[in-house]
Amino acid sequence: MTKRAKPLIVGNWKMNPATLSRAEKIVVDIQKGLHGRVGASEIVIAPPLPYVSDLKELAGAQKISFAAQDVSFAESGAYTGEVGISMLRSIGIKMVIVGHSERREGSETDEMVKAKLDRVIGNKLTAILCVGEKERDRFGDYFTTIESQLTAALADVSAQDLKHLVVAYEPVWAIGTGENATPEQAEEMRLFIHKVLSDMYGRAGSEMVKIVYGGSVHDDNAADLLKIGHVDGFLIGGASLDAKEFASIIKISDQYAKFA
Ligand code: PGA
Repeated sequence: MTKRAKPLIVGNWKMNPATLSRAEKIVVDIQKGLHGRVGASEIVIAPPLPYVSDLKELAGAQKISFAAQDVSFAESGAYTGEVGISMLRSIGIKMVIVGHSERREGSETDEMVKAKLDRVIGNKLTAILCVGEKERDRFGDYFTTIESQLTAALADVSAQDLKHLVVAYEPVWAIGTGENATPEQAEEMRLFIHKVLSDMYGRAGSEMVKIVYGGSVHDDNAADLLKIGHVDGFLIGGASLDAKEFASIIKISDQYAKFA
């Protein structure tokens, strides 16, 4: 058996819930659902930014840290509506999701994803870089999609900076559809991503990077994705807004914290 790093469980709330009081209730209920747990998984929530400061007050007994769902490519300046990396850092954000497919769909290019990734890593926060194909074809072209998303985003990232990187494999067809990648598909893509990283940085560099899976993760498929897919954790949308289910996925993941 090989030693495994502790799973990383990230809840991506997207533009939900509609009010701060509902957001607070979810965090309180997650804490309740995890009461007494001595788990090892790392828990992160990426709520809408206006909620972060209030939610931080509630994230007590079970350590929960907070991520941002996006960041500006620019450091500061005249960019109405944007949020800069130093602002995120100053409110205690440790991780930033970069290149989520919902943003790529809204016209975020590989170049913009790369600029954002450089901004996050350059400021020593952790970037959760999302990659994923829109569909699976018979010829395996989706591997080329993943490789080009990775190489474009990581072009200027050095091996030393890999400690600030997490890759989230999120096939677009699995996001919010109820149709998750099978554990075997997740395992195959995890190995492929490791190979691309090994080609760029060598094996030691590649092994520093956690590879998580996202796309219709629920409490009934989490164990197999960890056990057979060998992913290092999850990026969870819908199920992270359901406190009971999110807590249950965390407890399942805790069982995979030590050994694969
Ligand atoms: P889902 O979303 O879990 O609702 O499929 C995942 C994501 O968008 O990160």
